[in-house]
Amino acid sequence: MEENTTPQLSMPRIGDPAPEFKAVTTQGDIQFPQDYSGKWVILFSHPADFTPVCTSEFMTFASMEAQFDQINTKLVGLSVDGLYSHIAWLRTIKEKVSFNGMSGVEVKFPLIEDITMDVAKKYGMIQPGESSTKAVRAVFFIDPKGIIRTILYYPLSVGRNFDEIYRTAVALQTTDAFSVATPADWRPGKEVIVPPAGSCGVAKSRMDGDEDMTCHDWFFCTKKLSEEAVWDAVRQN
Ligand code: BEZ
Repeated sequence: MEENTTPQLSMPRIGDPAPEFKAVTTQGDIQFPQDYSGKWVILFSHPADFTPVCTSEFMTFASMEAQFDQINTKLVGLSVDGLYSHIAWLRTIKEKVSFNGMSGVEVKFPLIEDITMDVAKKYGMIQPGESSTKAVRAVFFIDPKGIIRTILYYPLSVGRNFDEIYRTAVALQTTDAFSVATPADWRPGKEVIVPPAGSCGVAKSRMDGDEDMTCHDWFFCTKKLSEEAVWDAVRQN
């Protein structure tokens, strides 16, 4: 009997190794995630080339590429269209489209062709309740060791917030560098959360105020972390 090599739909989870694949892209062939070892990667999917929401997203991401580079983060896009469609779409964006004050935008990061949907299926980007022929808007944050650290999914109709994607990339690197957590709506320069006390002794000493932090109660302690310290840590990765 012939072996069935068609990938099944799977949903990688936070903490899993990023599924491996080889792909053709607008910037040449890639072996993922090996080619990105030592770097953070944002792997994101979009439903289709030559569509308006995707066009606005690509222009926004491309205009932020240098900002992501500064924090050692590479961008990799994917849709289930072919290479020639990708090339034609990216040329059209550069030559004809203006959006939000941006024009002449050149997309320099790789855009994967995935006509077979092999990669999209491995990454849970095909969600049949939404569409079985187009990828949803997925965003995978993958760390320098190839581990998935954050996953966002948006439907076809809602464009992503790229400030939030950047904020999340900075927050992930900050939590790694300083062994802290970030509270709701955190931005560099705001207080961070100190992990909960792991013993009664530590809980008591925190409440007695003998550590460099503010404890509202034994389980909710924050400390200052300067904006400068955050940028020093994330920009030198
Ligand atoms: C868009 O990017 O505009 C789009 C793509 C697929 C379905 C709906 C909108």
